[in-house]
Amino acid sequence: MNIKNKIARGYADVQGGLFSSVEKADVGDVVSRLGARGIDIMAWADPFFPDPSIPEHILEAYLNALKTGFPAHYTMPIGNTQLKEAMAKKITKDCGIDVDPNRNLLVTPGSDSGLLFAMSIFVDYEDEVLVHSPSYPSNFLNPKILGGKTVVVPTYAEDNYRLNIDEFKKRLTSKTKMVLLTNPNNPTGTSYTKENLEELAKFIIENDLVAVVDQAFEDVVFDGHEMVTMASIEGMWERTITTYSVSKGMGLSGFRVGFLMADDHIMDILYGSAVNFIGATNTAAQLAVIEAFKDLSFMEGYRQKHMRRAKYAYEAFNSVENVSMDLMESGFFSWVNVSKLDSSANIVNYLMESAKVMVNDGKNYGEYGDGYLRIIHGVFFDDQKSFDTIDRIANALRKFKK
Ligand SMILES: Cc1ncc(COP(=O)(O)O)c(C=O)c1O
Repeated sequence: MNIKNKIARGYADVQGGLFSSVEKADVGDVVSRLGARGIDIMAWADPFFPDPSIPEHILEAYLNALKTGFPAHYTMPIGNTQLKEAMAKKITKDCGIDVDPNRNLLVTPGSDSGLLFAMSIFVDYEDEVLVHSPSYPSNFLNPKILGGKTVVVPTYAEDNYRLNIDEFKKRLTSKTKMVLLTNPNNPTGTSYTKENLEELAKFIIENDLVAVVDQAFEDVVFDGHEMVTMASIEGMWERTITTYSVSKGMGLSGFRVGFLMADDHIMDILYGSAVNFIGATNTAAQLAVIEAFKDLSFMEGYRQKHMRRAKYAYEAFNSVENVSMDLMESGFFSWVNVSKLDSSANIVNYLMESAKVMVNDGKNYGEYGDGYLRIIHGVFFDDQKSFDTIDRIANALRKFKK
């Protein structure tokens, strides 16, 4: 029997590293294999990995939740009501949307599953989804998994990765249904301006499209840059699903808690099918995250840490001849142009051997990421360890010979 003939077409190109080598940090067991070889991992968007980093008040809440014994049981598939209330307050404070926690919010096991779930209620066979590139790798595969088609829309470093509406217009067909947007963007760190998002909103509304907007990094936007929620722009609320996560700003990726926000006509569908798609989210983790929302001051400390590291990386990488980067606007990673040295794939391999660090090949973020490295300087709790590893990479790049 040839099982390949039975696989749905959306999964036809998917490889898990069992029968071919896949050097992507989040595929298969790459991270644990490299970790065992003593390679430092700067390739996983996981703040402070692998160091212990649960703030005291959240740890206490988690342990107390476990001691009640209740976390042996399910929470409703749509999520814990108190948690949604806490999230609703934050959303209203951040962007002015008067969100009803019982009609507009749903808790998901992280935002990766939330993203695919959100898209699944819109994307039908052969529907086209406009995806900006470079952006989050799942954005390119998700439309295909759902039977649709990914249509790549380029953005360019020279243009500060602005969303160029003419590029979107050029790719519009009668089959276009959705725009998928990562804001702030991973890997470029772009936190799109209100003006740019309004231009995109106009295009979406005029062409009667829907939007799924991934705001996993919304709490890690640096001074001088704005964080605008697309759903708060006039005309967008009724056609947008926004995805959120506690993985990045709160640094709680292992808790696996995320949220979907949408208008109640959209949410009715999501509430009705949550059990089919995501089951339910971890009960103890949800109880602990309620406490995290009660005192958010730790997040500002994290944001400052990421901002310090972004400045350090900017100076270190720009000091290397033929290597360049812009100062990041958000996130905890650097987006570094190495195209004058060699292919980004070769540089990734070189850094693994010479600096004993795994970083990401920019090509994994879409074809327009080729020639770049994504380097997660937000790993390790101690700033100095991050600085030292950045220096190790910069020194190795300085010595690079083709
Ligand atoms: C842009 C973006 N969205 C979503 C996710 C998924 O995060 P999680 O499933 O932990 O919420 C990631 C993780 O790296 C990400 O970078």
